[in-house]
Amino acid sequence: MNRKRIAVTGGLGYIGSHTVVALHEAGYTPVIVDDLRNSNADVLERLGGICGAPLEYYAADCGDVQALAALFDTPLHGAIHFAADKSVGESVSSPEKYFANNLGAMARWVEALRLHRVAHVVFSSSCTVYGEPSSLPVDESAPMQDATSPYGYTKQAGEQLLRYAHAAAQSANHGSSSPAFGVVLLRYFNPIGAHPSAQIGELPLGTPANLVPYLTQAAAGLRSELVVFGNDYPTADGTCVRDYLHVCDLAEAHVAALQHLERKPGDLDVFNLGSGDGHSVLEVIRSFETATGTTVPHRFGPRRAGDVVAVYATADKAAKILNWRTKRSLDQALEDAWRWQKSLK
Ligand code: NAD
Ligand code: WQD
Repeated sequence: MNRKRIAVTGGLGYIGSHTVVALHEAGYTPVIVDDLRNSNADVLERLGGICGAPLEYYAADCGDVQALAALFDTPLHGAIHFAADKSVGESVSSPEKYFANNLGAMARWVEALRLHRVAHVVFSSSCTVYGEPSSLPVDESAPMQDATSPYGYTKQAGEQLLRYAHAAAQSANHGSSSPAFGVVLLRYFNPIGAHPSAQIGELPLGTPANLVPYLTQAAAGLRSELVVFGNDYPTADGTCVRDYLHVCDLAEAHVAALQHLERKPGDLDVFNLGSGDGHSVLEVIRSFETATGTTVPHRFGPRRAGDVVAVYATADKAAKILNWRTKRSLDQALEDAWRWQKSLK
């Protein structure tokens, strides 16, 4: 039995669940920590079905390290930290909730990882740390802008917390033979799509804030129309441009990050994870319609406050150092998102 146990906090959520599958396929043993605050216990069963065996699971807040004592009884090879609240709008109205979970619980979790000498740590950061970049495509050396929401601030501060923890571990480890504390910070651009089995995907809780879940619900007739937020931006067709990547490609990047830390124990590095291509909102709608043969009822509306005009990655660093790049197309991601949407009806 493979003993490379990897703790996956937030492993029943959208990106975490796909990463659990990718870890299993790569021969790791994912161990899930998720208190179901934004997920459903069904996902655990579905993951067991995809992986062919039940998975080790802790129904606990990752900040409640006492409840997680048993998790550390068997050594962990690594940890991937997805657990966070992620709604930009909610973070503006409830900043305390975002500081408490995305930083408070995270800090206790990171402390436990260091205490238990977990050697490889991967963190879910976001392209939101760049704000409106001054040049495109954006690379990892682009300066962080002042955060435009408490959510964005917690991603910047989460990165910083791990940089400080890394420095502390290096100095505590100096001259000792105990395992190094390596950290990879991953800045995701816009993950979309679902597992091709349609067994797991993004759970639609309430009205979706993100483009693709809203679009698929409008196409399915669950929403009367998609409102395109602004068509007077300085882009080719007037709508905002983003870097969309398939969630299964994103999941595989976490495996590549762990493998990187195995090659370079104790490293600290940061990577953009995107396709390298920018697509406008209208291009996404047209791609969806062509790929699925289904019309998306839509109209133009006003700009949404806080939206950046255009942001897309250069993912060259991940290609060079992690040997990772996206393999799936925008069309494929939209087809998989549609299959998932139809499975929910
Ligand atoms: P999600 O809400 O689907 O998944 C997060 C999971 O973590 C949920 O299952 C939730 O129940 C769990 N969780 C939250 N706080 C917890 C805690 N304290 N203890 C235990 N479980 C907890 O979100 P997602 O889209 O999968 O995002 C995962 C990570 O990626 C987050 O850190 C998010 O900020 C980051 N991210 C997401 C996107 C995106 O567009 N989805 C983009 C960039 C970064
Ligand atoms: C994409 C485009 C909208 C909905 C957010 C977070 C970011 C990161 C990823 C976590 C934009 C347009 C959307 C709609 C629309 N998350 N749109 N009609 O804003 O790029 O990024 O998710 O870290 O932090 O801010 O993603 O999917 O909301 O929007 O026209 O009903 O679609 O204006 O141009 P965004 P999104």
